[in-house]
Amino acid sequence: MKLLNLDHVAIAVHDLDSAVDDYRRRYRAAPMYREVVEDQGVEEAMIPMGGSFVQLLSALRPDTPVGRFLERRGEGLHHVAYTVVDIEAALAHLKEKGARLVDETPRTGGRGTRIAFVHPKGGNQTLIELVEYGYGQRR
Ligand code: CO
Repeated sequence: MKLLNLDHVAIAVHDLDSAVDDYRRRYRAAPMYREVVEDQGVEEAMIPMGGSFVQLLSALRPDTPVGRFLERRGEGLHHVAYTVVDIEAALAHLKEKGARLVDETPRTGGRGTRIAFVHPKGGNQTLIELVEYGYGQRR
């Protein structure tokens, strides 16, 4: 398995509009796009930072993973995402190495990507997302 890039750092926020505004005013950084990902129960704003993104992440409903995270822990760092070439191979490798997988098989992420999460327990208490871009996309 080879990690290609830091794809994004995701920050959970209560109010996406106000978080986007703060980034615009404080850092002069604006989202490239926003997207609702129903499958994950989130709306995300992707702010380009060099070759990576900051992903501001809000919950569509309280009864979603990010909704529960916000309820339990408040706003803050939610996960770190790495780009991989072959997500199935990466998951098989991680499983063999004893990592606890949240997703045994990939699911659909934003921008037509395939993604999978690796559990924070036994992984430095940090939720990791693997991202595989399809052919013809930016990576
Ligand atoms: Co993410």
